[in-house]
Formats: sequence, structure tokens, C-alpha cells
Amino acid sequence: MIWDCQRGVKTYKMKLLININAPCPCGSGKKYKKCCMKRDVDFKDFYLKRYRIRLKSQEDVEKIKEAGKIALGALDLVERHIRPGITTEFIDRLVHEFIVKHGAIPAPLNYKGFPKSVCVSVNDEICHGIPKDRILLEGDIVNVDVTPILDGYYADTSKTFCVGEVGDDALKIVNVARECLKRGISMVRPGNTIGDIGWAIQKYAESQGCSVVREFVGHGVGFEFHEPPQVPHYGKRGKGIVLIPGMVFTIEPMINLGGKEIRILEDNWTAVTKDGSLSAQFEQTILVTDKGYESLTPYEI
Ligand code: MF3
Ligand code: CO
Ligand code: CO
Repeated sequence: MIWDCQRGVKTYKMKLLININAPCPCGSGKKYKKCCMKRDVDFKDFYLKRYRIRLKSQEDVEKIKEAGKIALGALDLVERHIRPGITTEFIDRLVHEFIVKHGAIPAPLNYKGFPKSVCVSVNDEICHGIPKDRILLEGDIVNVDVTPILDGYYADTSKTFCVGEVGDDALKIVNVARECLKRGISMVRPGNTIGDIGWAIQKYAESQGCSVVREFVGHGVGFEFHEPPQVPHYGKRGKGIVLIPGMVFTIEPMINLGGKEIRILEDNWTAVTKDGSLSAQFEQTILVTDKGYESLTPYEI
């Protein structure tokens, strides 16, 4: 990681390993080679001051990865237990106990008043579902979104599970959402932009006749639950902040089988599709590396 060259030295050059023809990270709109490549710019400081983005060091990344392993362990545990007849509250208990047993804290619990340790969103629920006594039925699709805090570091990841055998519509939306995450992640490399990620996701989702939720976006993560930048799952190629090594953010497309419009339930948390259509989501925490990306919550997509 380029930023580690700062340790123990007073003066240093920040060399960015990005394509010289990429848009300059300073946001000038010029090519990097015609702009900051010629100067000695401290991009760590620049990204903090201009965008409030806190780049992560190699040590920070290792800690986020450790939190990520706990999150993935919790998702595996849920996968082994998910079946018709269990309640969403049971999933909360499984995840809560697993996270605490591994020395971490569930970030959702009491976050802005959220009452449980994990978000569990069923069928037409898009995100932020509150675990309760709802019983899962054969054919349901269920997103489980896990965020442990380990030694102050956050990792954020989710999957949508199928309960028993599911119908064609359910299978379709789960597979489209999974492919959207895959295509979004594949855009992550230094010199690409945040807009490239959303563009790839939106293009695929809409090509399949599905829609992209606008109200909730990916986000910087690591030191806090939600940090800058925002990472929309729709957008234009080449627009937005230029990706540089050390950025850590989530990509977490919420994809609807019908329209993109949402509604918030009386509990003031649960987001559902306005037209009642199915919605699915997958989320990983992604690091921008010198060469491309590394998932800090890796699972096969
Ligand atoms: N984990 C969600 C995300 O991906 C945020 C949940 S906030 C909560 O950003 F309060 F609902 F837990
Ligand atoms: Co997130
Ligand atoms: Co999440």
C-alpha cells in the first residue's frame, strides 16, 4: 500500500499507481498525466480535505479483514440454519451470539435507534428489516446484513438466502442482484470512478427488466459504519470521485423485480418496494488496491 511510505519519514512523494490517461484524482477533469502526475500531491490529505474520505493503511485493512471474517462466519451460520419455520428473531439471536462470542460488537444494535443486531429483510422488504416473530416460509427470499465491530473496525456484508425451494421470480431477482454485485466489484480499480460502479450495475439490472433502488447506497466503511464516499448503484461512466488505493467502501446493490420506488413501514426502518415486488441484495466491503481491488468480506459470487 502506497500510504505506508509515510511512516517514519518527514517528507515523501505520493506516487499513485493509476493509468496516466485516467481522470486526475484531484477532480480537475483533466487526465492524470496532464495534471497532478507532474506535481507532488499528498492524496491522502487531499481526499480527506476535499471528500472527507479517510484512506486506510495496511494495518487498518488487516483489522477490517478480521472483522470481515467474523461477518462471514455469521452468514455461514445463518445459511446452515435457514429453513421454513424459523423466525427472523432466531436469525438475530444466532448472529448476535456469534459476533459477541468472537469478541466483536454488532454495529446495528442501537445504531440510530435500530433495536436489533442484524438486518433481516424478507421478499418485498428491500433493507433494514427488523428481526421479529415472523416465521419464514418455503419460497421466501431473505437478506441478512451483518456488520461486526472488532477493535473499533467495521466490516459490512450481506447475502440473500432462499428458504427451501423458491419460485422462478425469486430465483431471478436473487441471481440478478448477485450478478449486479459482481459487475460492480469488477469496475473497482485505481483510475476508475464511483460512477463506473453504478453504471455497470444499473446497465445490467435494467437489461434484465429489473430496477435499482436509489434511496440507499454503498458507503465508505472501516473506521465508522457509514463514511464518505457514497457509492450509488446507478450512474454514469467516468463520473464521480476517482478511485485510488486505500479507499474502502461497500457495494450493496438493492435490486427490485418491479419498480424502483420504495416505502418505509410504520416501524420507521423497514424499506419495502412500493409495488410489492420482490427485492434482493448482496453486499461486500471492498478495498481499492494498486492493481484493482480486494474484497475484505470475500465470498463466491
Ligand atoms: N448494514 C446496512 C448497510 O449496509 C446498514 C444498516 S443500518 C441499521 O449499510 F441500523 F439498520 F442497522
Ligand atoms: Co453497507
Ligand atoms: Co450492510
